[in-house]
Amino acid sequence: MVGIGPKQPPSRKGSMHDLPQNLLGPIKEFEEQFTVDRAKLKQIVNHFVKELEKGLTVEGGNIPMNVTWVMGFPDGEEQGTFLALDMGGTNLRVCEITLTNQKGAFDITQSKYKMPEELKTGTAEELWEYIADCLQQFIEFHHENENLTKLPLGFTFSYPATQEHIDHGILQRWTKGFDIEGVEGEDVVPPLETILKKRGLPIKVAALINDTTGTLIASSYTDPHVKIGCIFGTGVNAAYMENVGSVPKIAHLGLPADTPIAINCEYGAFDNERVVLPLTKYDAIIDRDSPRPGQQAFEKMTAGLYLGEIFRLALVDVIDNRPGLIFNGQDVSKLRKPYLLDASFLAAIEQDPYENLSETLELFERELNIRPTQPELEMIRRLAELIGTRAARLSACGVAAICTKKKIESCHVGADGSVFTKYPHFKARGAQALREILDWAPTEKDKVSILAAEDGSGVGAALIAALTLKRVKAGNMVGIRNMDDMRTLL
Ligand code: BGC
Repeated sequence: MVGIGPKQPPSRKGSMHDLPQNLLGPIKEFEEQFTVDRAKLKQIVNHFVKELEKGLTVEGGNIPMNVTWVMGFPDGEEQGTFLALDMGGTNLRVCEITLTNQKGAFDITQSKYKMPEELKTGTAEELWEYIADCLQQFIEFHHENENLTKLPLGFTFSYPATQEHIDHGILQRWTKGFDIEGVEGEDVVPPLETILKKRGLPIKVAALINDTTGTLIASSYTDPHVKIGCIFGTGVNAAYMENVGSVPKIAHLGLPADTPIAINCEYGAFDNERVVLPLTKYDAIIDRDSPRPGQQAFEKMTAGLYLGEIFRLALVDVIDNRPGLIFNGQDVSKLRKPYLLDASFLAAIEQDPYENLSETLELFERELNIRPTQPELEMIRRLAELIGTRAARLSACGVAAICTKKKIESCHVGADGSVFTKYPHFKARGAQALREILDWAPTEKDKVSILAAEDGSGVGAALIAALTLKRVKAGNMVGIRNMDDMRTLL
C-alpha cells in the first residue's frame, strides 16, 4: 500500500528555509554602526576633557560637575555608628555601619529591599513613605526596645543634585528611567526628614551622597592609590577629588585654593549636544522614547539600563526592514515589548560557552518564544558583542578624560555597578580602550587600573557622614547647612 507510514513534513521547497541564510549584510551594518575605533575614542576624550572643565565654570555646561562638600579623604581614624540609605536605580538598601577603632575596619548590618517598578513613576509622597517604611522596618528589627539616641544617616541619592551644603540637595533631573513628579527642582532632604520625624524615627541626615562619591571615598579608605570612583551600572558616572582653586563656580566662597573637594561629575550627561558621540538610529529611538529626551546621551549608550533595549531595537529593525530574513515564520510579538530585555540577557549571550550557542538558543526559546537558526545565533552573538564592546570602550573615555584633565599619569579607579561586576569582558575591553587612548607602550603595564570598589553606598556613606561630623566637631561650617542641628549628632 502506498501512502502508509510516518507522515512527511509538508514540502518546504521554495521557502526561505531552503536558502542558505545570508546574514552577512546585517552583521556588517551592525559592525559599522557599533564599532568605535581608536581615533574616535581619542576624539571623544578630547571633547570630554573640555566638557569636564566647562562644567566647573560659572557658566556650566552639559556635564554638571556637582560640588559635593566632601572635603578630603578619610585618614582611617574615623569612628562611630552610622546609618546608610542607598536609593539606587534598582534596589533600596539600609545599612548600619560601625567604623571601629582599628584603622580601616568596619562592621556592617544590612537589609535590601526591591524598589517597586511602579514607584519609579509614582508620586513623591509614595517614594518618601516607602523609604520611611524601609528605614522603620530596619530600626524596629535591629533595635527592638532600645532607647536610641539620634543616628546620623548618610543618604546615597544617586541622581544629579545641586548641593549648597552637604545635608542639602536639589534634584536637577531624574535619570535611569525615574519620573516621579514634584521632586525635580526641590531639595530632597526636608521631605525625608519630615517623614522620619512624623514616624518618631531618631534619624537625621548628616550627608546627602552620590554613589560615585561614596565609591571614591570607600575605595580610597582601603587603597590610597584610588583617585577616581566610578559606577558602571543601571546608570554611569564618576567622582574625583578636585582643588577648590580649579572650581571657578565656587570661587566666590573665598576658600583656600588648595582645599580638596570631591566633584560628582554626572558625566552621563556628556555630549547631550550630540557633537561627538557615534550615535546609531537605535540610540536615537531610546532617547526619543525615554522620560527625559535629550538628556543623559552618554549614559544611554553605556549604562546597563539601556544595553538590552539597544539589542532588542536592532533585532526588531532587521525583522521589520528586511522582511523574511530572520526568525522567518515565527511569532516575534514578545520581542516587540520595550525594555523586555535587560543587560543580563546580553551578558548571558556573551557568556554562552558552546560553539553551537546552545545556551543562547535556550535563552531565546525561554524568554522570547523564538527558535533562532544557527546563522541567526551567530548574528545574535556578534550583535551582543558589539553592543557590550561599544559600552566598555565608551566607558573608558570618561575615565581617560578625568585622568587627562587632572594630569593623572597613574592611579587606581574604584569601580562598582552591575555592568562592571557582572558583564563578561567589560573590564578587559575597558582596559584595552584605555591603552589605546592613553598611548601606553605594548610592553608597559596598565598605569590606570579600574578595580572593584569597596561598598560605596554603605561604607562610603558612613565615612562621609563621619568626615562631616568631624568637621562639625572642629567648628568648620563650610558646606554645612545648620551647625546647631548637626551638633545634635555629636
Ligand atoms: C545618575 C548618577 C549616578 C549614576 C550611577 C546616573 O543616572 O545621574 O547620579 O551616579 O547614574 O548610579
